[in-house]
Amino acid sequence: MQENITFEIPIIDFGLLKTRDEATKSNFLKAITEVGFFFLKNHDVPKELTDRLELVSRNSYKTTFEERMKLKDFRGKMEVSGSIFHEKPFQNSPDDESIKLDEKEIDSTFFDYLTKISNIGVFLLKFCEEVFDLPNGRLLGNFEPKKAIIDAVMLEENPTEEFEFECHRDNRLMTILKQDRTGGVEIKYKDNWYPVLEDPKKEFLGVNIGNIMNNLSDGKAKAVYHRVRSIQNQTRFMWPVFLTPNFRPRKTAVKFLRFTHRGWYDFDTVDDETDFLL
Ligand SMILES: [Fe+2]
Repeated sequence: MQENITFEIPIIDFGLLKTRDEATKSNFLKAITEVGFFFLKNHDVPKELTDRLELVSRNSYKTTFEERMKLKDFRGKMEVSGSIFHEKPFQNSPDDESIKLDEKEIDSTFFDYLTKISNIGVFLLKFCEEVFDLPNGRLLGNFEPKKAIIDAVMLEENPTEEFEFECHRDNRLMTILKQDRTGGVEIKYKDNWYPVLEDPKKEFLGVNIGNIMNNLSDGKAKAVYHRVRSIQNQTRFMWPVFLTPNFRPRKTAVKFLRFTHRGWYDFDTVDDETDFLL
């Protein structure tokens, strides 16, 4: 049972963090050592860009199979893979013929968003090396911004289980998450679960500390347990960006995935295990 304690997910002002503001720095330290999750505000990712990200993601799922396949053949700045290239990427695919995809725009939208988030990631990892007094490159050396991965995850409208993703910790350095307005993500803090509800007006990003970060910081950064609760009658999206070692010699990547309770909807067979959304 949930105890009646007051806990609010820490909110870090990225602008102030960059200036090494003392109060922000101490909130940040508390957030990563005690909670393992925080919101980032004032992060400089324009709303126009996140709106575009949402629109192209939704359209890519809603259109026809033939239209989606255009993305597979397109050679742009991103590598696209995942369940979106199945004939039926989700249960009630509308196959809307009126939706035409602009491959160039999709490519540049994901690339621009990922570049912004990767830059935030680079700063946060560097900053953590600093505050934890770690050797130079201990964290940053395990992240290659030019090969970052973003998933555009569409969750089913009528899930059959209580959770889309059960309780787990990410096998990453960090995950920088954007959700749409529906929510569903919950984090565990001191044996209680708390919903991660973003205020759409503030356009917060969620930053989630993973196992690799915990190990490389000699246990100082706390990896947060989290889960995603199912919500009925809502098709919803989330866009996690994974800060993780990526040994594949490839470009930045976007994966359009869809989760079903029968398991991942046929992960790209050529993909290696570093691409799991965990
Ligand atoms: Fe996760």
